[in-house]
Amino acid sequence: ASGEALKVMISGAPASGKGTQCEMIVQKYGLVHISTGDLLRAEVSSGSEIGNKAKEYMENGCLVPDEIVTAMVTSRLSREDAKKKGWLLDGYPRSSLQAQSLESLMIRPDIYVVLDVPDEILIDRCIGRRLDPVTGKIYHLKNFPPETDEIKARIITRPDDTHEKVKSRVETYKRNADSISSTYLDILNKIDGNRPKEVVFQEIDSLLSQVQRDKLKMISIE
Ligand code: AP5
Repeated sequence: ASGEALKVMISGAPASGKGTQCEMIVQKYGLVHISTGDLLRAEVSSGSEIGNKAKEYMENGCLVPDEIVTAMVTSRLSREDAKKKGWLLDGYPRSSLQAQSLESLMIRPDIYVVLDVPDEILIDRCIGRRLDPVTGKIYHLKNFPPETDEIKARIITRPDDTHEKVKSRVETYKRNADSISSTYLDILNKIDGNRPKEVVFQEIDSLLSQVQRDKLKMISIE
């Protein structure tokens, strides 16, 4: 039943590893991954009206206006698959206004995971990051190089991954982080994201399975 479906929110500075962890979470828990960054990048490459509006903000490392992103997220969350399988919201909310939009629609996660990584590591991760446009997989030139020459030849750099833009994205994140966390203090779990990705995942995995057990218990009591 949909009451059992897990609802997870993952947050953290740019390059803290949200997308990387989401790949692993989805593989194990089968949640519907809703990444506002990915949704927006898809709109930009399709040249849609939303994409044309969002493009300049994104390429400059600025937040896209709330109303554009909120409409996109709420419509995706209301689809049947998200209700049935549960969801993993990545990159939203990114401002207190966005958090309030979800609250007013009574959309609340079971757990709020925040990945914590020092600034200097974030910069290095962005500069080395590459994306595979075919599979959507995330690589890093040093940490996680592509497996084959074929993938190596096609990987691309994100236009917002320059040193200067990453710095400003990190600053924006820090300005908003506390006001967003204050909405989810009772379900907040801060995790040290500056460890190998498998170790970070182990910690998230044990948190999620605990939440899942608790939900099942609640349902059987009801
Ligand atoms: P978005 O795509 O959400 O970007 P972000 O938050 O800046 O996060 P990133 O995708 O940069 O990083 P990540 O945490 O997913 O890290 P990753 O796993 O890739 O948003 C992009 C833009 O869209 C925004 O700037 C804004 O314009 C717009 N936008 C999105 N949401 C919005 C909203 N709600 N409101 C308004 N505007 C919005 O990892 C990074 C690198 O590190 C990779 O190379 C990876 O291989 C490596 N790595 C990952 N984990 C590890 C590890 N444990 N050890 C070593 N290396 C690692």
